[in-house]
Amino acid sequence: MALSLQSRVTLNDGSNMPVLGLGVWQAAAGKETRKAVAHALETGYRLIDTAKLYGNERDVGIAVRESGIPREEIFVTTKLWNSDHGYESALRAFQGSRRELGLEYVDLYLIHWPVPGLRQESWKALLKLREQGEVRSIGVSNYMIPHLEELLPTSPIPPSVNQVEFHPFLFQKELLEYCRAHRIQLEAYSPLARGQRLKHPVIREVATKYDRTPAQVLIRWSLQHGLVVIPKSVRPERIRENADVFGFELKAADMARLDALDERSHLAWNPEDLP
Ligand SMILES: NC(=O)c1ccc[n+]([C@@H]2O[C@H](COP(=O)([O-])OP(=O)(O)OC[C@H]3O[C@@H](n4cnc5c(N)ncnc54)[C@H](OP(=O)(O)O)[C@@H]3O)[C@@H](O)[C@H]2O)c1
Repeated sequence: MALSLQSRVTLNDGSNMPVLGLGVWQAAAGKETRKAVAHALETGYRLIDTAKLYGNERDVGIAVRESGIPREEIFVTTKLWNSDHGYESALRAFQGSRRELGLEYVDLYLIHWPVPGLRQESWKALLKLREQGEVRSIGVSNYMIPHLEELLPTSPIPPSVNQVEFHPFLFQKELLEYCRAHRIQLEAYSPLARGQRLKHPVIREVATKYDRTPAQVLIRWSLQHGLVVIPKSVRPERIRENADVFGFELKAADMARLDALDERSHLAWNPEDLP
């Protein structure tokens, strides 16, 4: 069936997650985040991606509550920050995030980065939170194959999601295949390469061919690779533009052209460097 803004993927724990969401990293706390989330929800987005680190959980929660949309229709993700690792600290940090959000439960709680030495203890806390029903799904972020290979044999359940940097300049094909084989949903962060490569000639050429914008081509590329995608914008017109990606389909040859742009170049800190 063709994808739409209402489409959801079924996670390995049976929950459903929207395929497209709004990221709010670098959306300023206060009015800017509240307005962006409110506008996204009005546009039809049902997934909002925040983190303790972003400092705007409170505003995400306010916008979600004030939207009037039933809570169960909105999927909220937040994340455990690096300084809060360890079993007890992770439990405490989660309660802090939940209070900030002002929500009874969080849909997805992620370990933000695979902090060496402590990440396995933190994961136990996430398992506990899920058991208690305070979190519907649990997952990880910035986990590369070695980090997942450490986690999988020691956990009673696999992470439902792995959120990583993913765009044509950082294709991460092996990780995509690994996650698919283990039924871990891969989620693309910085899907627009932070807006830095929108003038690349191949991206522009493909965009012209489909009469779409470069941003829409990048989002569509990640969606067609089966990822959940969370572009960030605080501008209403771009929030709409980034959701208008369901009326066209990139042909296999154009997908391959975009795949070939891979430079293995990270905009974020490279998690492969973390033992
Ligand atoms: N787990 C992690 O470690 C991690 C790391 C990074 C990001 N993330 C998550 O992923 C989300 C997205 O990643 P990101 O924020 O790094 O980058 P991104 O979504 O690739 O790009 C965002 C940048 O592109 C601009 N932009 C948005 N739509 C545009 C459009 N249609 N045309 C031109 N420019 C556009 C935005 O500016 P305006 O806002 O001014 O429109 C912003 O500067 C984050 O917000 C966060 O939720 C997670």
